[in-house]
Amino acid sequence: MRVITFGTFDLFHYGHLRLLERAKALGDHLIVGVSTDALNFEKKGRYPVYSQEERRAIVAAIRHVDETFYEESLEKKRDYILEHKADILVMGDDWKGKFDDLADICRVVYLPRTPSVSTTAIIEKIVKKQ
Ligand code: CTP
Repeated sequence: MRVITFGTFDLFHYGHLRLLERAKALGDHLIVGVSTDALNFEKKGRYPVYSQEERRAIVAAIRHVDETFYEESLEKKRDYILEHKADILVMGDDWKGKFDDLADICRVVYLPRTPSVSTTAIIEKIVKKQ
């Protein structure tokens, strides 16, 4: 089974690792769409701390990950799933229900987020020097 997931994976942390580990366990080939810097700027109004090249290189080096590509548009998920022949789409449950319309081409699985860790929380912690 080919599994696909998407994310920014900025300041790679334990929550990211656990998501990728559980995604891989659902199949045998894990493909990760790493969002581009431009897509992040468009959606969040700021650039990630690490560049898209750095974020993709880190994700690609994780042993659970078999393949990576750049996600250039949030609206192109259907195209990416078809292009990569994915059987299962995995998303964190912060997206619960949002991709149910893709169930006609693949299985859609929402995994629970790892509590108490996020890129935003890490940035805030460093800024406050706590
Ligand atoms: N993720 C997770 N558990 C966390 C944080 C993230 O399972 N504690 C998952 C997300 O649900 C997503 C993937 O990891 O499927 C990539 O998440 P991303 O948005 O890049 O990371 P966040 O840490 O959530 O970033 P931010 O704080 O900027 O929203």
